Amino acid sequence: MINNNQTMTTEFQNDTFLRTLKQQPTAYTPVWMMRQAGRYLPEYRNTRKNAGSFLDLCKNADFATEVTLQPLDRYPKLDAAILFSDILTIPDAMGLGLYFVEGEGPKFERPLKDEKAIQKLDIPNVEEKLDYVFGAVRSIKKALNQRVPLIGFSGSPWTLATYMVEGQGGTDFLSIKKMLYARPDLISHILKINTETVTKYLACQIEAGVDAVMIFDSWGGALAHSEYESHSLNYMQVIISNLNLLGYEEIPKIIFTKGGGQWLNAQSKIGANAIGLDWQTNIHHARKIVGQDITLQGNLDPAILLSSPEAIESAVKKILDDYGYGESHIFNLGHGITQFTPPENVQCMLDTIRSYSTQFHKS
Ligand code: CP3
Repeated sequence: MINNNQTMTTEFQNDTFLRTLKQQPTAYTPVWMMRQAGRYLPEYRNTRKNAGSFLDLCKNADFATEVTLQPLDRYPKLDAAILFSDILTIPDAMGLGLYFVEGEGPKFERPLKDEKAIQKLDIPNVEEKLDYVFGAVRSIKKALNQRVPLIGFSGSPWTLATYMVEGQGGTDFLSIKKMLYARPDLISHILKINTETVTKYLACQIEAGVDAVMIFDSWGGALAHSEYESHSLNYMQVIISNLNLLGYEEIPKIIFTKGGGQWLNAQSKIGANAIGLDWQTNIHHARKIVGQDITLQGNLDPAILLSSPEAIESAVKKILDDYGYGESHIFNLGHGITQFTPPENVQCMLDTIRSYSTQFHKS
């Protein structure tokens, strides 16, 4: 099944990230950052200006490769690269018309506003419509030259549905929640289509060369307790099972429900290799719930990076102390890095992780 991904982790110059996903010993705690390529970096802003827009960056393999590598070149202590793209490429490929308004975030020209639009929704031709993403993966893998592993990703079916129904971000989710309670049949139709599309999308990213995949469930935490498993988690489980059935058992799978700390027990049972944590969950507590066989990824409050080196150092040490001894922690932020982060503060975080974490590892 997998043609170019049989690569053993030992072939990477730095395989700390993949080893940690498999609970294997490492010399230190690996780290990458959500949104590590982005507007806090002057070199990103410069490339974005040359490309024209954010979507132009995503759709051009050379630009996408350039910005993916920028944080790695600036910070050699990063242990993984993440494909430069966006979760909203899927609804765009479904014909909803993604666009960005400066300062307002993503919007759709044709959101799913009524039953007719929802009945017309269909699984897109992923290979063709999202070919630019797979081209970017191939180009990034070549440029990385096995320096560090590359993470591919998708939004969760529920998170994609929120954007598709609301038509934009930054809402209080009243349109989709009204639909969820009044017309659950329509919501499950959307979620089923999204689930099949995400499975296909991640399978194609794996075939193109990504070394691990992450499902961003950014808005799972907006669901009521009684609805989280049935409307978000179960669909992520279907994606993981289907990827395994397709022959991709060896590709590590990470799930991340922002605001989902109260559902860790359920999250630990869907076959994911790792669970992302936002900053509202204590990592020691999380570890006790998920057990030894699942890696935890997180969970520094990104706002800390706006403060001072002393505050950053002590917050990083607190998380490493809370996790304690053991091999199954990937350091990350609890959500994406903000555009206002001074780049030197990231360096301070990375230096602290590298020097302080060695005491928690055997090798
Ligand atoms: O992590 C990375 O460095 C990889 C690239 C990446 C982007 N978006 C680039 C991006 C990833 C993994 C995403 C995922 C994504 N996109 C999520 C899930 C993670 C999360 O943040 O919860 C979501 C919800 C989106 C949707 C989205 N895309 C929003 C809400 C925005 C606007 C927010 C903002 O920061 O302006 C985007 C745009 C976006 N995606 C940018 C980047 C670098 C900023 C674009 C720019 O103006 O240059």
